[in-house]
Amino acid sequence: MKSKADLLVVNARLATLAGFSSAPQRGTDFGRLQMLDGAVAVVGDKILAVGKLSDIQAQADVSAARVVDAQGRLVTPGLIDPHTHVVHYGSREQEYGMRLAGKPYIEILKAGGGILNSVRRNREATLAEVVAQTHKSLRRMLAFGVTTVESKSGYGLDTESEVKMLEAMQVLNHVQPVDLVPTFMGAHAIPEEYQGRSDEFVTLLVEEMLPKVQGLARFCDVFCEDHVFSVQQSRTILQAARRLGMEPKLHADELAPTGGAQLAAELGAVSADHLLCVDEEGIQALAQSDCIAVLLPGTSFNLMADYAPAQKMLKAGVAIALSTDYNPGSCPTENLQLIMTLGCLKLGLTPAQVLAAVTINAAHALDLGDRIGSLEAGKQADLVIFDTDNVDYIPYHYGINHTYSVIKSGRIVYQKEEGFYED
Ligand code: NIG
Ligand code: FE
Repeated sequence: MKSKADLLVVNARLATLAGFSSAPQRGTDFGRLQMLDGAVAVVGDKILAVGKLSDIQAQADVSAARVVDAQGRLVTPGLIDPHTHVVHYGSREQEYGMRLAGKPYIEILKAGGGILNSVRRNREATLAEVVAQTHKSLRRMLAFGVTTVESKSGYGLDTESEVKMLEAMQVLNHVQPVDLVPTFMGAHAIPEEYQGRSDEFVTLLVEEMLPKVQGLARFCDVFCEDHVFSVQQSRTILQAARRLGMEPKLHADELAPTGGAQLAAELGAVSADHLLCVDEEGIQALAQSDCIAVLLPGTSFNLMADYAPAQKMLKAGVAIALSTDYNPGSCPTENLQLIMTLGCLKLGLTPAQVLAAVTINAAHALDLGDRIGSLEAGKQADLVIFDTDNVDYIPYHYGINHTYSVIKSGRIVYQKEEGFYED
């Protein structure tokens, strides 16, 4: 008997990204969109079939399916933002003027501002306040076509407040459609009460915080940087996290070449992120590993800093994903489509490569390549219909939102002009 489809998207210009569920696109494979004019059938929250409508009709019963006519529009997998700090309360526009006047980001942090400014606000905020602000951001992200978002904790820096941030993610996963993938980042900065005693803070992280967040977080991330956590401290934290089932990720070589990329490769981290200042040795280490380089050109743009050497990485064979890094300091934007533009203009990637970088490769950066990131039977039914018929148009016409509709886990959750349907 044929399976019954619930939803059928027809007349679609499909960028399927198919064939890379077990390993990311890299080298000459990077940017293989696997285009196809056809349809997608959905049952429940999963994709049932992708292909020519006649082939789908031969294998599935579409007689009762709700039909969505894409009218020749581009349809892609739901976009994935694999590195954000979206869960937070408050904002830091007071520091924008300082940075515009030339004060470096790290100097603001060293003077007790930056991340530590947000930590003060987030420690005081209630769970409900954190949830409410983050919910607003997730609605914006969904409107931009983003259906899965990784988020780090890291604005609490004490056990209770870090747990509060991870609990906010749990709540949000129940009350709205975007999938939030939780990462524990208690090692985001040295809190004020531990200034000058960073080793003692590392002990607190390992002995008290990590056991408390076990089960709440999928990954563990560390800001490995001069004046923050050293390579040795980062190794200690990430090894302890792995023993409790949290896989390592790393903020690596963001502000200076500190050897973070090499550490990520050594630990077999899922991803090494930022990499603005990665050196040749770090690039080689990543190229020889399964670690995904998550590049964040919006952060370079906003910090008026250099961009990651994406072309060198590509040539060396490093697998690349792109992300917003959305946070209240170094990159206050939820707009992943704008990051795609920066990926083209500032990292030298093609529109096809940036689309792969925010779909299948971003899925691999979350160890979810087998579940999301491409349009293939059996995968989660996360789809974006864009209001254009080609991929180039998205980064080319920049700063606006190209989303026409968003289907998340088989349900239409956003429609241009009509706005949101209920969560
Ligand atoms: O990825 N580098 C560390 N963390 C963030 C910034 C967080 C903040 O400024 O609030 C980043 O750039
Ligand atoms: Fe970050």
